[in-house]
Amino acid sequence: MTALEEAARAAQHAPSVFNTQPWSWRITGDTMSLFADSSRRLTTVDKEGRLLYLSCGAALHHARVALAASGHAAAVSLLPDPAEPALLATVRLTGTAEATEADRSLFSAITRRHSDRRSFGDRPVPEDELTVLRRLVEEAGAYLHVVRPEQVTDLAISAEVAGNAERDDPAYREELDRWTNRPDFTGDGVPPATGVSPGLRRVPVRDFTPGSPSGMPPGDLHDKGTAYVVLFGRTEEPADLLRGGEALSALLLRATADGLSSSLISDAIEVEWPRHLIRGLIAGIGEPYLVVRLGYLPDVPPPPPTPRRDPRDVITIVE
Ligand SMILES: Cc1cc2nc3c(=O)[nH]c(=O)nc-3n(C[C@H](O)[C@H](O)[C@H](O)COP(=O)(O)O)c2cc1C
Repeated sequence: MTALEEAARAAQHAPSVFNTQPWSWRITGDTMSLFADSSRRLTTVDKEGRLLYLSCGAALHHARVALAASGHAAAVSLLPDPAEPALLATVRLTGTAEATEADRSLFSAITRRHSDRRSFGDRPVPEDELTVLRRLVEEAGAYLHVVRPEQVTDLAISAEVAGNAERDDPAYREELDRWTNRPDFTGDGVPPATGVSPGLRRVPVRDFTPGSPSGMPPGDLHDKGTAYVVLFGRTEEPADLLRGGEALSALLLRATADGLSSSLISDAIEVEWPRHLIRGLIAGIGEPYLVVRLGYLPDVPPPPPTPRRDPRDVITIVE
């Protein structure tokens, strides 16, 4: 298998909204091209396609990490052809570059990272760690705001209000139902076993099976040490959102490599009023993309696996 094909396969592990994996790759010679698969966009949750771009940006970053870890230098071009908006990026091999320890540790985190929606423990996430994550996010072209203790209530209200509004929307319920009840062969969607049943939390997480019991109990930890961070960017233009997705991947892989568990909260951004509250948390200096929860979860087995699509459906190699 070529390095580009290996990179495209590594990218399949990237997180994506509802595990839609809304991308495809075309590999020609020394170049891999990333395409948005708009047939996989969530038409109710993600009307504007923001979450699709973030998901594809995460896949792009996973591919870059795989190439770097295998000693390849690459030139990346975002949205290279205005006439073809579905072409999100091209990655062209430009030579060799010795893999660093950091490259290797991010790469090995790709298969160890999972969304873990259970409550995290009391151990706080160190300031130094948050500083490292902020720097990585900024290097990728986005920004990170660490939610301050006095802001957690607003975040909790946002997540609660958004969760209730979505649950009351029949179109949302239908879309959620579709992506949590996928036949095995599709290799996508969120298995109910990876959700957690609602419980008393500092900040509620998405209920993937409203009205029926989910896979995991939320756990008996209380999210006391959990850090909540808002990933944000300058605009909601596709290029900024793609950079936001790359930043998300950089943050999650580094956090995983450093022993942190994580999961994402985007419902608070999907609904207008909660989104407005989250914009307030970042003092209105940008557009909020996502909230990430980070924390320590001692001595428990990882959550059940989430499926991935058949690489043959995602990767085309043009001889
Ligand atoms: C843009 C985006 C938005 C997401 N929103 C949520 C969310 O609101 N709640 C949640 O629990 N997970 C969320 N996720 C995580 C996905 O559900 C998860 O990545 C997917 O199911 C694959 O599982 P994995 O992360 O364990 O590989 C989001 C992921 C992305 C990339």
